Amino acid sequence: MNVVFVTGNRHKFHEALHILSAYGIHLHQDTKGYIEIQSDSIEEIVLFGIKEVMKRARDKSAYIIEDAGLFIEALDGFPGPYSSYVYRTIGNRGILKLMEGVKNRRAKFVSCVGFCSKDSDPVLFKGEVYGNISWFERGSHGFGFDPIFEFGSTGKTFGEMTPDEKSACSHRFIALKKFANFFMEYEKERA
Ligand code: IMP
Repeated sequence: MNVVFVTGNRHKFHEALHILSAYGIHLHQDTKGYIEIQSDSIEEIVLFGIKEVMKRARDKSAYIIEDAGLFIEALDGFPGPYSSYVYRTIGNRGILKLMEGVKNRRAKFVSCVGFCSKDSDPVLFKGEVYGNISWFERGSHGFGFDPIFEFGSTGKTFGEMTPDEKSACSHRFIALKKFANFFMEYEKERA
């Protein structure tokens, strides 16, 4: 089973490659990109993006895209769908500065995967995990906000987890697992 993942982010691609290989899904990377609209809703961004990808698709391949965001409770969900811009501008240090002295550290990571093919309308799959914003950056694994997101009650940041550990529990894992279960049924029906 082959799926094309449209993303320029090699970290995301490798996480997804590893997660989906357990389901016998072979992932191929397409780095051509797509238009990412500005919206308060990650689902809306993904739906628009996957429709854009399908406009240029010339074959019957299955395509996925993914958008993720960090939602911090004490900041009313900021940076949320603006995570990419916020990471590029103020980064982890900026987030920790905004959180200085803030006792409520609760946060969640959300991943939304969008699937589409010439034979299917777009379908979205969501994964969410809860945790806390750490007081310092910790760990050298992963990417983005990983060093400041303590997963669940483990006390470990994603940055302190090995790639295997993160890929067994992350928001991306949950969303991709839902996609994989859907996709296996979809392929069976088409066979
Ligand atoms: P996007 O999904 O590529 O738009 O990601 C939004 C922002 O969140 C980027 O700055 C990413 O680096 C960051 N991000 C996305 N997924 C993760 C993750 O799994 N861990 C840490 N940061 C992430």
